[in-house]
Amino acid sequence: MDGGLPDPLPAEPMSLFEQWFTQARAENVQPNPNAMTLATADEAGTPSARIVLCKSLEADRGSVVFHSNYHSRKGRELARGRAAAVFHWDTLDRQVRVEGPVERVSEAESDAYFATRSWERRVGAWSSQQSEPLASREALFEQITETIIKLDLDLGALMRGEDVVVLRPPFWGGYRLWAQRVELWMGGTGRIHDRAEWTRDVSRECTDGVRVCGTWSATRLNP
Ligand SMILES: Cc1cc2nc3c(=O)[nH]c(=O)nc-3n(C[C@H](O)[C@H](O)[C@H](O)COP(=O)(O)O)c2cc1C
Repeated sequence: MDGGLPDPLPAEPMSLFEQWFTQARAENVQPNPNAMTLATADEAGTPSARIVLCKSLEADRGSVVFHSNYHSRKGRELARGRAAAVFHWDTLDRQVRVEGPVERVSEAESDAYFATRSWERRVGAWSSQQSEPLASREALFEQITETIIKLDLDLGALMRGEDVVVLRPPFWGGYRLWAQRVELWMGGTGRIHDRAEWTRDVSRECTDGVRVCGTWSATRLNP
């Protein structure tokens, strides 16, 4: 069979995952090559999924970072401590699945990322009570206006295209999904796909918030 996963499998999946991610971004294979479907579940086990953008793939740690509203539906479900994510690069015929514990990144990390967003996105984060009912589209624009007044933003500076200071809302920030299981999938000729999973222990946590992870164990799977 042509072009499958390495045989024998590499000892850990993150280097190959990073290689695929980097290639997808470098070749701009789709408008958002860093998009991933994030799945969570509520207390009854009812699943929900949505797209978010992976802002950092941390191959050394074996984790991915994304950002959102802590009070949103996903935020409430992420507070349960576990999530799954799926990347799909259709033109590359590749899929990556990541599953494991999830936690908020540090305040400093969230602040640093928030500061890189355009002022419109920073104001937007303040203005949207994500996942809550909204009376009308007009009401959202009113909320944005109220935010600009509440934060006392310099409208003149905004109009001139100048940057203004908009600090991160306390209800918005980053999450780190630690890979406890990674699955790499490659499409194969005649639907003879290639697929493998790597698992490791990520249950222990250091005092500084960095998890101590066990060594990876690799298994090829039937496609
Ligand atoms: C391409 C794309 C990228 C998105 N990126 C994010 C993101 O990084 N963070 C986020 O909170 N929502 C993002 N969204 C919106 C989510 O898919 C979702 O609508 C929103 O977060 C509310 O989901 P929830 O009600 O399940 O919490 C994105 C949507 C699309 C289509």
